[in-house]
Amino acid sequence: MEPRVGEPRVGGPGIGGVGARWLQRSEVAADARFFGLGGRASGPRLRDGVYRLWNTDPGGSFEPGDDPLYLTMPVQLVVADAGTHLVFHDNSWDGTVTLREGQEGAGSGHDRPGYCRTRMDGGPLRYWVIVGTTPARVLHGWAALTGAPAVPPRWALGHHHARWGFHDAEEVRRVVAGYRERDLPLSALHLDIDHLSGHRVFTVDGARFPDLPGLAAELLEDGVRLVSIVDPAVKAEPGNAVYESGAADDVFVRDARGREVRGEVWAGESAYPDFTDPRVRTWWGGLYAERLAQGFSGVWHDMNEPVSFAAFGETTLPRSARHALEGRGGDHREAHNVYGLAMARAGYEGLCQLRPDERPFLFSRSGWAGLQRYGGSWSGDVATGWAGLRASLSLVIGLGLSGVPYSGPDIGGFTGFPSPELYLRWFQLGAYLPLFRTHSAISAGRREPWEFGSRVLEHAAAALRERQRLLPYFTTLAQLAARTGAPYVRPVWWRTPKDRALRDCEDAFLLGDALLVAPVLEEGARRRAVRLPRGRWYDTVTGRAYDGPGQVVLDAPLSGIPVLARAGSVVPVAAPDGGVELEVWTPYQGRKGAGTGTLAVDTGDGWEKPELLRFTTRLRDGEVTVEREGGGEVGYPIRVRGEAPPSDDRRGPRTS
Ligand code: NOJ
Repeated sequence: MEPRVGEPRVGGPGIGGVGARWLQRSEVAADARFFGLGGRASGPRLRDGVYRLWNTDPGGSFEPGDDPLYLTMPVQLVVADAGTHLVFHDNSWDGTVTLREGQEGAGSGHDRPGYCRTRMDGGPLRYWVIVGTTPARVLHGWAALTGAPAVPPRWALGHHHARWGFHDAEEVRRVVAGYRERDLPLSALHLDIDHLSGHRVFTVDGARFPDLPGLAAELLEDGVRLVSIVDPAVKAEPGNAVYESGAADDVFVRDARGREVRGEVWAGESAYPDFTDPRVRTWWGGLYAERLAQGFSGVWHDMNEPVSFAAFGETTLPRSARHALEGRGGDHREAHNVYGLAMARAGYEGLCQLRPDERPFLFSRSGWAGLQRYGGSWSGDVATGWAGLRASLSLVIGLGLSGVPYSGPDIGGFTGFPSPELYLRWFQLGAYLPLFRTHSAISAGRREPWEFGSRVLEHAAAALRERQRLLPYFTTLAQLAARTGAPYVRPVWWRTPKDRALRDCEDAFLLGDALLVAPVLEEGARRRAVRLPRGRWYDTVTGRAYDGPGQVVLDAPLSGIPVLARAGSVVPVAAPDGGVELEVWTPYQGRKGAGTGTLAVDTGDGWEKPELLRFTTRLRDGEVTVEREGGGEVGYPIRVRGEAPPSDDRRGPRTS
């Protein structure tokens, strides 16, 4: 299973020499499937094709066929019957990965292995292979290599509302009041570039947002935090304090002749900080003091591929632009893919310095291997449409398998006007993803849940309430991700990678170990087929049991998407009195130690490491028991769900 180095064709000064092109070919088993490579719209299973490694703003919006997107990574996860392995090429240059799945000879002995060809335009041939029996072990190894995922503050696991095009503070107040009046939970509201003065980073348009700290304090009384967009490009003009301070400190990217490299972004002609220089990161990190003083609680990094608008050619910096690259020196060919990663580091470290008692909230459009140390991501400008809805799920699963567990899409899509049904289905999916955020372009229609009629509002409100109820589970998953590298959102084959039918299943996912979420991704669908991993699963609405492996067809009315719970699992949820209770799904009859679950005891938004309580569930003589590992009181109310069916009543599955 280990990739073999084959046919290295070196065109240049030799392997490892800067500017040397190289190609490596690896063979994989005939049954192997590929995943990862960062955020890809056409996954999560990466089919035969050529995938480019060059972070790219597709411009406008993207659909499943568009590749590459904002966040690429030379890391692939290969899952086969014989085991799972991960290959990481530690090289940030432009390149391509060509994937070909193998073919099995149906017992004829003529299996054709698959292969993967990695081609890089330069940089070293230096790669890591992490081999493991299970995906969980491999992802654990990946987190050990590239860093533990940052744990977002608790509020960041609630619902966020964003929009490009909030006209002024009054509009923001109206939107927040709309949530409050309808009793809809809202954790954060995001301000896009419109709140800036002339789109300049680290400024505020005082006419439209006359007292931003006052507005932030007022919203906070309702439990709503403000999050600010932060773009890397700095408008290059005299009188722009950020530009003047940067120019004085010599922080901007220069060309080989020493001239500042200029690009064109929202604010006009701009200069680009060189985040690959530690000195520049410190300067940039200090600028977040202004955001904190304005009352912002978190940041949203955008346009950091980095983008420079261009009528033709590449919409980024010239390849000849010089970068510090941590003192080594080099050009944009090597720095491009790590630009967003280094910006995230600057922002994260700045926030840690400025507000040492709180964990930063940061998510970034672009990035590279290791982004998770500083924050999460989101799926960018996904086109509004059923294909875009599918693509957004693919991105979240793929990013998780590439080590970035916190992400989510623009609910409703970035562009245009979703139909009420599409908006609702997107909302229902988003409620089970780590970043649960509505967002849209300035020219697009509204995305508030009450803009789509009373039926959508009723069902969106139910999804919001369910998300609130699941918050203790989400905070636990965030802690588990930090400790084990396991993403919150996992492919359905996570625990059973040898189940080939599951390996090909892309329209459902596991949320942690306990829940299986089957979103509706097709217009008009009111029922859908759900492929179950082995074991017993309960429909969380009806409590009805189904036994996997196999496929069942479940109702998927507009009121909610199918969500199943694994027998024996323990899901920590918010109790009606505001505390935490344990929802225990009846273990499978007759098996010992049938189920487990974890609760991370909430310690707030600081750095204190929460205790992880582990529980074991059993079914003994028809009675469900819950024990805390290591002994002691369970300490939380227990609610048992999912009736154990009589042994002669095998109510599922319709196996195919
Ligand atoms: C592009 C981002 O992807 C989008 O989310 C944002 O609204 C616009 N830039 C404007 O800032």
